[in-house]
Amino acid sequence: MVSRTSPCSASSCSSRSEVAFKRVDERLAGWLLDEVSSTDVVHTTHERLAQHLGTAREVVPFHEVKDEGGMVQEGALRMVAVMERKASAKDTGGWSWAAFDGQGKAMAIDAKTACFTCHVPKQDRSYVFSEWR
Ligand code: HEC
Repeated sequence: MVSRTSPCSASSCSSRSEVAFKRVDERLAGWLLDEVSSTDVVHTTHERLAQHLGTAREVVPFHEVKDEGGMVQEGALRMVAVMERKASAKDTGGWSWAAFDGQGKAMAIDAKTACFTCHVPKQDRSYVFSEWR
């Protein structure tokens, strides 16, 4: 299962993007119910799912990790990284790259050197690392 959370848990999210995310969540729930096999397992890929949902956005939140007596706990939100499909972004793999701090403020980054070059090894998977597990 994919364990990403929507950046709208950050207070800075606009209501417009909240609506957009909610709609995707609803579509995702419906799609999963249709696709689930008799063994309760859904076999798919990020790309197939994105195509089905008509979305092409990848989001990854970075939290502090707290060690509480051997138990790992999720700490404060430090950064949210976003990739969004953008056909014109030819020198960064057809994706637009962005990063937001824990308060939802856009961080000044050079997408090519700070993000894209590290994702290049995944060129055959549209520069996306995550897979369904
Ligand atoms: C040091 C190499 C590295 C750099 C630099 C890097 N990434 Fe990643 N990125 C990764 C890896 C590895 C994953 C998969 C992590 C996981 O699945 O937990 C990932 C995952 C992601 C994902 C989730 C989709 C996917 O590919 O799995 C997004 C979105 C993302 N990165 C955006 C960014 C953005 C935006 C930047 C620049 C601000 C950036 N990354 C910089 C290595 C990097």
